[in-house]
Amino acid sequence: MTTGRCETSVMPILAPNLDCIANSLAERFHKLYGTSARIFLAPGRVNLIGEHTDYNDGFVMPTAINFYTWVAVAERPDRILNVYSEHFGEMVQLYVAALGGPPRKHWSDYVRGVAAVLQATGRTVSGANLMISSQVPLGVGLSSSASLEVSTALALLAISDLESPPLELVKICHQAEHECAGTRCGIMDQFIAVFGRADGALMLDCRSLAEQILALPHDIRIVICNSMVRHELAAGEYNRRRADCEAGVEVLRQHLSNIRALRDVTLADLQGYKHLLPQQIWQRCHHVVSENQRVLDAAEALRSGNLPGFGRLMYESHASLRDDYEVSCAELDLLVKLASTCEGVWGARMTGAGFGGCTVNLVRSEAVDSFRSRVTESYQKATGTTPEVYVCAAAPGARAWQPFVG
Ligand code: GLA
Repeated sequence: MTTGRCETSVMPILAPNLDCIANSLAERFHKLYGTSARIFLAPGRVNLIGEHTDYNDGFVMPTAINFYTWVAVAERPDRILNVYSEHFGEMVQLYVAALGGPPRKHWSDYVRGVAAVLQATGRTVSGANLMISSQVPLGVGLSSSASLEVSTALALLAISDLESPPLELVKICHQAEHECAGTRCGIMDQFIAVFGRADGALMLDCRSLAEQILALPHDIRIVICNSMVRHELAAGEYNRRRADCEAGVEVLRQHLSNIRALRDVTLADLQGYKHLLPQQIWQRCHHVVSENQRVLDAAEALRSGNLPGFGRLMYESHASLRDDYEVSCAELDLLVKLASTCEGVWGARMTGAGFGGCTVNLVRSEAVDSFRSRVTESYQKATGTTPEVYVCAAAPGARAWQPFVG
């Protein structure tokens, strides 16, 4: 970047200048706290297919994206964590000795949660000054919370002179989300924030945690459309969907004694026991069971270069999330419909937990500009809201920032 300002927004940028972002964060940290800082970053993610399957021991296909949450950190001699969020323009003070307690529905829950779980593993977290800066749009299904948890965990480990194997890091952050944010989420978001790869998406088996890297063809772009809506229901409805799935397994287990989760149920099983399940529970189970199969089919389609097939599965996934799982909304449906009428689009679907947020679109690179203007214009016309469109690249997982030394 040649200008004095660096691009810290997520507006359409393919390769944000990470050096520039890190240097300017270090300067702002110095201004606030008067010391130098170490810097850590963790990516957001977009899920290509496999939605609401992770907490059913199923399959997902996320890719980390090149928008990061950044945490600058320096040790303090006491046991206080001062945490400044640039997004909220707010400073919070936490005491390492008193990190427990229920979710407060505040951004600092994620920091508090990670520090609390680290302590609970028997590690001693040092006092620290932290500054958080995020390029990941918050609360729109791109996993801003997992990227905050993971970058914070790396920062706290480093200043406390501690280490954690990467998989333990994933589990610590996952537990923090459950305990301090109160969402009974699956493991996908924390996993991809740690294990993201610049060379493609991961197909993850959320039971065994076995992963496979799936390269994306060079001439396609992952394009994310932000509907700019977030429906209030999101948190409670998420936990209710999970409870519906568990209720389905309870009933099915009386006849299929070897099942542990919906992962173990086939579509034929579901048809056979349809009469035993309340309609809504059946729909939830039908989404999950069919979505697991779609992820396996989508991986096969990518391996064999069958992009039309991959795209069809994305549209089917969206329909299932809309009709069976009921986590879409009018705005997301509209974005998917608009995408389906654009040239050069292989597939589109809502991504993340739903109830607003974003769609993910696989678009041929030369069609990205026309896609962007067509979707923006039509969505604006229909809803009065201007969507944000982000063109992303697959990105590596969380890490310490290594300044470029020329
Ligand atoms: C959220 C959760 C994930 C996953 C998705 C839906 O992002 O954090 O664990 O369940 O929703 O696929």
